[in-house]
Amino acid sequence: MGKDLPAVKTPNHVAIIMDGNGRWAKERGLPRLEGHRRGGEAIRRAMETCREFGIRYLTVFAFSVENWKRPKDEIDGLMKLLVRSINHELPDLIRRKVRLRTIGCIDDLPSKTLASLRKAIDATAGFDEWNLIMALNYGSRSEVARAARQYAEAAIRGDEDTASCDWTRFSRYLDTADIPDPDLLIRTSGETRLSNFLLLQCAYAEMFFSPVFWPDFSREHFVEAIESFRSRERRYGLTGEQVRGQPSIMQF
Ligand code: FPP
Repeated sequence: MGKDLPAVKTPNHVAIIMDGNGRWAKERGLPRLEGHRRGGEAIRRAMETCREFGIRYLTVFAFSVENWKRPKDEIDGLMKLLVRSINHELPDLIRRKVRLRTIGCIDDLPSKTLASLRKAIDATAGFDEWNLIMALNYGSRSEVARAARQYAEAAIRGDEDTASCDWTRFSRYLDTADIPDPDLLIRTSGETRLSNFLLLQCAYAEMFFSPVFWPDFSREHFVEAIESFRSRERRYGLTGEQVRGQPSIMQF
């Protein structure tokens, strides 16, 4: 656990919108892909900080459903970078017992990207303490639409009852079915939007917006976000007095 913070509440799940790779590169006269490559290194740093502070789930928004509209060169470069990074990181993921998981429609990714992803997902499937979740070809609205379709199909089969559809039942059909909700959502680069990322899962997440471009996001920046999280009172619709008087009613 981190040494420079007291042992108080720490997020269990941090989700990150890694923004600013392109601007980081542009400022330095470098190709956008160099920004993405350095962004990959920042993911590695973030994982180390998660381990240090006991944050068991890290979800990173690596490729959105909207990102297919980017120039073909950038998409191809990102997909190749993904293959290289996964293949390179896999031994370390195994050594550190990190389970790699994905959310989004990965079946639509290029075959080489999909193959290296599947290999890493299978090779780490037995781990459960540390989780790196990559959102790939992910968008919240399409995830919810897919879940609704699957729920409806299950209801037609008689496996679900439409009258008892509530959040607990419905959320089992989301890509995040067995992943706890994010406690803290970080977006870098100064933008303050959610951009179709984990919209329902972040219903009670604390938000932290950092002005730093993602490739520059360091351990110190992450610690600042964790400290900010620790200073907040999460009320889930209750009053402050209720929360402070009876913390046990906060079990959701
Ligand atoms: C947003 O920055 C970033 C992305 C769309 C891609 C994120 C991908 C990575 C960090 C690399 C993933 C690689 C591995 C190895 C997992 P932007 O391009 O929108 O930046 P801009 O807003 O400054 O143009």
